[in-house]
Amino acid sequence: MKAIILAGGNGSRLYPLTQVSSKQLQAVFDKPMIYYPITVLIAAGIREICLISTPQDLPRFQQLLGDGRRWGINLEYREQARPEGIAQAFLIAEDFINGDSVVLMLGDNIFSGSDDFPRAICQLQRGATIFAYHVSDPERYGVVEFDRHGRALSLEEKPENPKSGFAVPGIYIYDAQVVEIARALKPSQRGELEITEVNLEYMRRNQLRVHRLSRGFAWLDAGTSTALQEASAYIEAIERRQGIKIGCPEEAALVRRFISIEQFEALLSTMPNCEYRSYLATVAAEARRLGG
Ligand code: G1P
Repeated sequence: MKAIILAGGNGSRLYPLTQVSSKQLQAVFDKPMIYYPITVLIAAGIREICLISTPQDLPRFQQLLGDGRRWGINLEYREQARPEGIAQAFLIAEDFINGDSVVLMLGDNIFSGSDDFPRAICQLQRGATIFAYHVSDPERYGVVEFDRHGRALSLEEKPENPKSGFAVPGIYIYDAQVVEIARALKPSQRGELEITEVNLEYMRRNQLRVHRLSRGFAWLDAGTSTALQEASAYIEAIERRQGIKIGCPEEAALVRRFISIEQFEALLSTMPNCEYRSYLATVAAEARRLGG
């Protein structure tokens, strides 16, 4: 299983914050937004990740994340020249996917919670899996209606009259058919290749599974200044209460054994003295105590 993170768009709703830095590089409490999706993927056991962004923002992501080696992953980069839709990611990264199955993650979706994703990834044999999360404002999202067996009954992009209260978050799991499906798409009215159209095609093929995220799960989006602020406040509250960090790629890499305790300690010795480093030091001490 490989993964694509789409971190494109011009972040116009966050102007002027996004004038010199992309939306997915903004801070969500104590780390850049992009750390959160990367951590989810590492925690799900995925090592091959392709990040797609705009030509102007790509160098900034490369500066921040490098080739991923320090986290035991392999990060590749591709450009999306114009914002022509989420599903275009499969065409841009076709050579990266190279016939494998793939997780697509949107770089501005923040998740915190259980092990739903790793489980769903392991379970995928054929077709696609999307997730369903109950929200108060489904009309802002892709909306899915499903039966008790997790079969999708309907799927609509930002409907005026949603058929259910379940939004589709920005993480999707596909088998290798996805490239051929994306290639056959026509741009929508807003001129984009829509991810909902990809999912509808899987639904027509009777190969779309809907995995309902459990109640304790948090899905936050950070598309507006208010949402960004709320996401920061949420992460801060959980981190302070529990004394753990959400969205910490170093820790996820250690837990997944993508890096050894020695590599982890070497990595933290390169960091300036700061709260993030102190936290990682406690993680290292605990890992040592439990036997590396
Ligand atoms: C996109 C998708 C939508 C999905 C949402 C999740 O919306 O089109 O189906 O629910 O991401 O964040 P957009 O961010 O383009 O408004």
